[in-house]
Amino acid sequence: MVADSTLFAESDLYHLVYVSRITSTGLSGASTLNDIAETSIKNNQANDITGILCYGNGYFFQCVEGSEQALTNLKNQLLMDDRHKDLKTLDFSAIAERKFKGWSLRSIILERWLLKDPKVKSLLPFKPYSWDEAETEQFLLALQGYYQQKQGEDKIDAQPIKYSALGLTLSKVVGEHQAFFLIQTVLAALIIIALLWVVLADKLGF
Ligand SMILES: Cc1cc2nc3c(=O)[nH]c(=O)nc-3n(C[C@H](O)[C@H](O)[C@H](O)COP(=O)(O)O)c2cc1C
Repeated sequence: MVADSTLFAESDLYHLVYVSRITSTGLSGASTLNDIAETSIKNNQANDITGILCYGNGYFFQCVEGSEQALTNLKNQLLMDDRHKDLKTLDFSAIAERKFKGWSLRSIILERWLLKDPKVKSLLPFKPYSWDEAETEQFLLALQGYYQQKQGEDKIDAQPIKYSALGLTLSKVVGEHQAFFLIQTVLAALIIIALLWVVLADKLGF
């Protein structure tokens, strides 16, 4: 009989939890979050890494789980990535089990759900560089709650919503749905101004 490996704890299992700041390169990329997610899902699947990446208030907060070697290799890649900077490791230690075992990497914009979660309110505004161990753990538990809530709701490794650099910046400021409507409104206003300009230029002869 073949043993079900999921019944046994993994022996070499670590998590790497860190924060970093998005750079102007990261912000100016056409779809930074999607690019990161696409590469990460592919690589993490190959390296048996699971985890979550949060973006909010100009910061990344990531928790990745896997073997010590796989996470050390990933950390070295992360340190060379110019889409973020000032990487600060909050925790890199052995863990008993994965918190995000169905996600090769789920990336989320914090504003999507954070404000609705009463457990996280004391951690706002989102400034993870100043968190102590207990606050980091509190946030990780909230993320785990989010993971458990999402289990069964959507496909494993579902791609995040597509964000352009402008959409990412705006969604950071006003939230994703408002950002969408704001962009629509600005575009509509620009079209109206352009039409008025054409009509007036024709009438006034310039
Ligand atoms: C905030 C952030 C999080 C990232 N997370 C991961 C990750 O979980 N896995 C991964 O392989 N690459 C991740 N990357 C990308 C790596 O820094 C690097 O670009 C990538 O591993 C290179 O992969 P490639 O050699 O296949 O192009 C992340 C980058 C950033 C900026």
